[in-house]
Amino acid sequence: MSEPIRFLNALAQALATMMLYHESHPACQRAVDVAFRELLDFQAQDPRPVFTFLGDELLYGNRPLRELKSWDWGPRLAAAGVQRLEFEERVDREQFEGFLAEALMRVAGAPASTAEARQLRKSPIRFGSVGLRGEAGNRAERPPPPEIALSLTEEADTVRWLHEEAGTRLVLPLAEAEAVVASLAVAMHAERRILLPLLRLKEFDQYTTTHALNVSVLTMALAEYADCTPAEVRAFGVAGLFHDIGKVKIPKEVLNKAGKLTPEERQIMNNHTVAGARIIIESQEDLDMAAVVAYEHHIMLDGGGYPTMRFRRDCHRASKLVHVCDVYDALRTDRPYREAWPSEKVLGYLEEKAGTEFEPDIARAFVRMIREWEPRVMTLESEQAGAA
Ligand SMILES: [Fe+2]
Ligand SMILES: [Fe+2]
Repeated sequence: MSEPIRFLNALAQALATMMLYHESHPACQRAVDVAFRELLDFQAQDPRPVFTFLGDELLYGNRPLRELKSWDWGPRLAAAGVQRLEFEERVDREQFEGFLAEALMRVAGAPASTAEARQLRKSPIRFGSVGLRGEAGNRAERPPPPEIALSLTEEADTVRWLHEEAGTRLVLPLAEAEAVVASLAVAMHAERRILLPLLRLKEFDQYTTTHALNVSVLTMALAEYADCTPAEVRAFGVAGLFHDIGKVKIPKEVLNKAGKLTPEERQIMNNHTVAGARIIIESQEDLDMAAVVAYEHHIMLDGGGYPTMRFRRDCHRASKLVHVCDVYDALRTDRPYREAWPSEKVLGYLEEKAGTEFEPDIARAFVRMIREWEPRVMTLESEQAGAA
């Protein structure tokens, strides 16, 4: 992992130097030389690297580079509309310098449609907004969009493994969870539609897995729709991914029971909230908000739901977002004891319960968001069927 980091640091150095000096200044030329050499070294390992800048999140391929959390060029480039950066093989120095100049112009607020930008379309360095549509984009010339937009099977496998780890070793690997959430965020932004992966699957563990992925992506979409900051969006995505982690403690017979639960079984089931919060706190001190969400996501606005609170208090905003997304995904999915509800019926339910079960602003924002985006919501199954 050190090559991409060395390259990005050299890139930042070159951009910073170019901001200070005229491009013909020896300091600029030196900084560009260094960055270009780092790029060549880096491309010896990965000939076609792709970077994504999402607020303060920085991805190499679909892996977040946590070491560069404070690399401030990520947010600057993202804010200037450079959210993706792709290199093809055989970049020459002149093209590289041209790219640096264009990126700086963007950061300085210059429009993209200049002669230089036109030239860049022929360049082996491509950059622009996520999804690569728009001014920097000439789709016909581009390689196909990254696989993650259509196939989240690797992420689903990772979530399955996270559940196993939580159940057997009582650990929650945070870096892997963040990588899944980062992939979901990229998939969600691709083509400007949200994607509900693998919506209707039958097996228990697949339900748990897809439900975790769906709640994570829906929570991020809703948080973004409600103007939360990118850092909050990502943290809420992790909380959404782990909200039901306590279910790893519930015996399968109870979890998958088709009929009505006995009061004892109901008690075991409801305890997934407390158990989940405990698992998260014990294994990851960085995840206190996720622990709060695991604890609170079945508590209703009017104090109903579970666990029962001895003293009424307001729940965390993240819990309220996850609560709405959780109910939506659960009702939209076939379960052993009931068929999936149509989307409109679920939205009607959310509207009806706004103010008693759900925070009214959040429930209404969710309903608006789904109504706006419904045509774009799809399942992986239908995507595959369409592609076949
Ligand atoms: Fe739950
Ligand atoms: Fe849930």
